[in-house]
Amino acid sequence: MIILSIETSCDDTSVSVVKITGKKTPKFHVLANEISSQIKVHSPFGGVVPNLASREHLKNLPLVFLHAIKKAKIKLKDIDYIATTQGPGLIVALLVGLNFSRALAYSLKKKIIPVHHISGHIYSNWLANKKIDFPVLNLVVSGGHTQLILMPRHGKFKLLGSTRDDAAGEAFDKVAKLLGLGYPGGPAISKLAEKGDPKKYELPRPMLNSKDFDFSFSGLKTAVFYFSKKHPEILKKGKAQKDFCASFQKAVIDVLVAKTMSCAKKHKAKFILLSGGVSANDLLRDELKKQAKKEKIKFLVPEKIYSTDNAAMIAVCAYFNRKKAQSWKNLDAKANLRLF
Ligand code: KG4
Ligand code: ZN
Repeated sequence: MIILSIETSCDDTSVSVVKITGKKTPKFHVLANEISSQIKVHSPFGGVVPNLASREHLKNLPLVFLHAIKKAKIKLKDIDYIATTQGPGLIVALLVGLNFSRALAYSLKKKIIPVHHISGHIYSNWLANKKIDFPVLNLVVSGGHTQLILMPRHGKFKLLGSTRDDAAGEAFDKVAKLLGLGYPGGPAISKLAEKGDPKKYELPRPMLNSKDFDFSFSGLKTAVFYFSKKHPEILKKGKAQKDFCASFQKAVIDVLVAKTMSCAKKHKAKFILLSGGVSANDLLRDELKKQAKKEKIKFLVPEKIYSTDNAAMIAVCAYFNRKKAQSWKNLDAKANLRLF
């Protein structure tokens, strides 16, 4: 089976071609995973500008699509399904991918499988073709989401905790903006943090000891704002800024790891899966891996290229959701939009 997938929910235009072999234990072969990033377009504004994102998707999607087909060395008639991100995301960005998928499905007489972006992130872990036993606990950390999601089996999701305000990625982005590090903030902060001392500055660990599995990062962002007034040295390039980035990163990761581990133990998870853009963070990957090993819980995280937005993860999720395939006429923007 060959699934062509399209992802345009935010600032990456991505088209993948994924071949699936084997029935009982499917194997995913990524024949192409083309991504056109819009970082250069948005970074002067310090964040994603929806109208510009929409325009860029419109301009680039046909080209990314042609590249993917060429790279995968397939003919259009080889495609069995078209998978497309239906939401959540920027509506003006999503519409570009949805309408492209519809036109493609109409011309090829194929069905569309609509995919929830967050379940796509979760399924990025199946791209490693490893055996994953349920129950699985997912920590999904992206620019818009911070969630702990329990999966007792495929396609069944139970939300156990989430952020009450800002997402973890959003905290990285906002703090980076405050420090003048540009957009996106996560990669910029983690790069500087590599050469910094995480113990140098003491920052709050919000909700670390709360009994639930929720998170809150907006207070941390505010704390950083007031901290920068007292310590203006962190706003300038240099050792202090590196130490600050390391301290901030550690504060966020300490909370994410502690909550994930207590949630996994409580729900007797066999696997902890990390996904979403923030899962590209090396310290988070290492810390969670270490703690999971200590508790004898298996741990998986996708290759970095599949951590941030990509269409390959959309194809994998679509494979497990084939029953939801629809004709181009029936694609309902509301259906399948909610994971919970
Ligand atoms: O999943 P994603 O690509 O897009 C959304 O669906 O939001 O995630 C983007 C987020 C951004 O907030 C970005 O700053 C963050 O992932 N991110 C990181 C790192 N790489 C990307 N955060 C921390 N450390 C990183 N290395
Ligand atoms: Zn995402």
